[in-house]
Amino acid sequence: MQKRAPVILVHGGAGEWPLERRDAGLAGVREAAEKGFRVLEKNGAALDAVETAVKVMEDMDVFNAGLGSSLTIEKKIEMEASIMDGKTLRAGATSLLSDIKNPVHLARLIMENTDHVYIVGEGAEKLAQLFKLERRNAATQSRLESWNKLKEQFKKGKLEYLPKIYKLVKEHPSLFQLDTVGAVALDKDGNVAAATSTGGVTLKFPGRIGDTPLIGCGTYADNEAGACSATGMGEIAVRLVLSKSVCDQMREGSSAQKAVEKAIRTVNRRIRDTFNHMGLIAVDKKGDVEVAHNSPNICHAYMRPGMDVPFAAMQAKIIK
Ligand code: GLY
Repeated sequence: MQKRAPVILVHGGAGEWPLERRDAGLAGVREAAEKGFRVLEKNGAALDAVETAVKVMEDMDVFNAGLGSSLTIEKKIEMEASIMDGKTLRAGATSLLSDIKNPVHLARLIMENTDHVYIVGEGAEKLAQLFKLERRNAATQSRLESWNKLKEQFKKGKLEYLPKIYKLVKEHPSLFQLDTVGAVALDKDGNVAAATSTGGVTLKFPGRIGDTPLIGCGTYADNEAGACSATGMGEIAVRLVLSKSVCDQMREGSSAQKAVEKAIRTVNRRIRDTFNHMGLIAVDKKGDVEVAHNSPNICHAYMRPGMDVPFAAMQAKIIK
């Protein structure tokens, strides 16, 4: 098999990144991209690289995934994650996790140790016990403060559930924490993988499932196409099955760049009734990586051979 130059691209979430969090966000995605790339450099699999990168971000409180996850309207943590192997099309996903240290790892265990793709609730808890997964309280002081501010808006009747959240977000864009984390990678053997993890939208309704754990919506990978991870308002990625759509474009021969840009254009054209912040990262079969978003920011980083440190930025091509 023809050897490939490995590459990894990670995102720390689309949305409005307040100035005071930007340095920490960029340092976080740089570290995640570098640790994921070191796996690929040693002939590691794309699947291991994306899991490594997402775990790094789940362990940092600056991102809305793992530690520092957003809270539901009932002030509870309900984390979710998924992972997909483009070589075999196997996938694992999980939701409604309150204290698992690394949700993406549980998603991988589901993929590798069960006959299912998506396990939540009691079943997820049983697996976590069986595999002795580490736990932690993911609610940080800063997330609690952000929750309190939003809850005040809610009590004044200024926060209504989707789609009226739009009005509030317009008034207070930085209050919404849409910063899911994700990674896509291509390894030396030409295999691609994707993984995504999130705490979900702040003040979400209990039991709300976003795009992140839904294969094809927040995460997709197929060696015959490429890999994609989404971030932003999950309902949009669900309604458009966005990550699979990006991969389908790449399967038909589009580059990663064309595929993510086209997908965001579709979001802009078709979704007009809700708060609309979306971001997409993708890698194609050739190893081209691309980021596109309609949100003000998307924290991201990538690394490939020849780079001493990852390239990281808060914006890519904003698609109007
Ligand atoms: N994209 C993350 C979420 O909407 O939950």
